[in-house]
Amino acid sequence: MNSPVTVVILAAGMGTRMCSKIAKVLHRAGGLTLVEHVVRLALTVAEPENIVVVVGHQADQVRQTLAPYGVKTAEQTEQRGTGHALRCAQSAAPATGHLVVLYGDAPLLTAETLRSLVDERPETATVLTAILDDPTGYGRILRDPDGHVLAIVEHKAATEAQRAIREINSGIYCFRAERLWAHIDLIGTNNPAGEFYLTDIVELLRVVGGKTHARILADPNELLGINSRVELAEVDRIFRARKVIDLMLSGVTIEKPETVVVDCDVTVGQDSILEPGTRLVGATHIGEDCRIGAGSVLENAQLAEGVIVQPYTIIQDSSVGAGSRLGPFARLRMHNVVGAIAHIGNFVELKNTTLGDGAKANHLAYLGDSIIGARSNVGAGTITCNYDGVHKHPTTIGEGVFVGSNSTLVAPVTLESGSYIAAGSVITDTVPTGALGLGRGRQVNKPGWVKAKKG
Ligand code: UD1
Ligand code: MG
Repeated sequence: MNSPVTVVILAAGMGTRMCSKIAKVLHRAGGLTLVEHVVRLALTVAEPENIVVVVGHQADQVRQTLAPYGVKTAEQTEQRGTGHALRCAQSAAPATGHLVVLYGDAPLLTAETLRSLVDERPETATVLTAILDDPTGYGRILRDPDGHVLAIVEHKAATEAQRAIREINSGIYCFRAERLWAHIDLIGTNNPAGEFYLTDIVELLRVVGGKTHARILADPNELLGINSRVELAEVDRIFRARKVIDLMLSGVTIEKPETVVVDCDVTVGQDSILEPGTRLVGATHIGEDCRIGAGSVLENAQLAEGVIVQPYTIIQDSSVGAGSRLGPFARLRMHNVVGAIAHIGNFVELKNTTLGDGAKANHLAYLGDSIIGARSNVGAGTITCNYDGVHKHPTTIGEGVFVGSNSTLVAPVTLESGSYIAAGSVITDTVPTGALGLGRGRQVNKPGWVKAKKG
């Protein structure tokens, strides 16, 4: 039987070069915090109770972010190096089996690579390495003439000759847990930084006869760590590129894919089309055969199949039924539920509103805190006056209601099913079924007035 796998994620560091009030691992790429990416990756090989995240800087916020994942955390109150960080996880980690070390600021490692690292089940240790054109700053892998790994030397401590080595340490390892824990206390601080370098474990293990295998990765991009916002942007770009490729391979057409921004948890159904410059973020789920127009922003939006979103439409925290058409320039915010084959046209804003099947608001309207029944038609310029300066009030519109243009519906107010509202009305009272609600001044014509005025 395979030995159990533990993953320790080192995420206590400051991230000074981010120049940020936010801990580095809480910055986002591809729509998720860096540490969440790494935790999700760890979950592909280990049970949540066998994942330990070493937190330090903004520990409480990091713990809060990770709460939904059910993983453990261990605190490193003072950042004294990677070796010290791993030691802080010891009491929370099983003493046997295999133990993988990942970094909270290196989220691009793929599940395939991690799986193959774990599947090696090394006798002592395996380290992931890469050959870089510019290895500056990284730890270097020292090998004997036969290619066996001798040690890892940090850039700062390396000689000129060692700095010429292009094989670098990723900082990602798989250890036989018993061997690691038996020797970790031997790591000292005799180096230019005065830190406990985890990298020293390789030599310490070799001295007692334990071999470390170095596994060279074909794509060094997977090891990319984030130190500054420049690297954050690059990692974000890579996540977004991976996402649009996944979507396209699953049957989504994306025009100019380099211009769209799609978070990792977004789903899009087959034969849907994303036009250039669309932004789909959060828990957004789009059905099949939809079209998302250029420049549209969808955040926590759920669209059923066949929905057409015309350009420059914003949909937040709302759902839209099958076959509906929205936009261009429509805005849905704060919990709207739009039924099937509904129409929401240009410059229409919906807030906390339910719009029934086949209902329409085609131009220039504000519909807030309202329930609008099926097949009702809301004319251009209609406004729900939902706010009296102190409280918000609801507007209830039944089924098949016709609201004439430029109507002002002063909430709380009800327009019963099948009622009509004359254009330009200010409606303050219930309009019963079958009635015409008319609330405006009468027109008066003054014959000959123009000539009399101008003389
Ligand atoms: C480390 C490796 C180096 C490797 C490089 C790859 C060591 C000594 N060096 O260097 O060989 O080439 O990664 O990116 O391990 N952390 C803590 N607590 C600490 C220190 C660090 O949790 O006290 C965490 C950081 O938050 C980060 C990770 O460990 O996620 C790596 O630390 P960092 O300081 O970036 O190490 P490097 O200098 O990059
Ligand atoms: Mg680093």
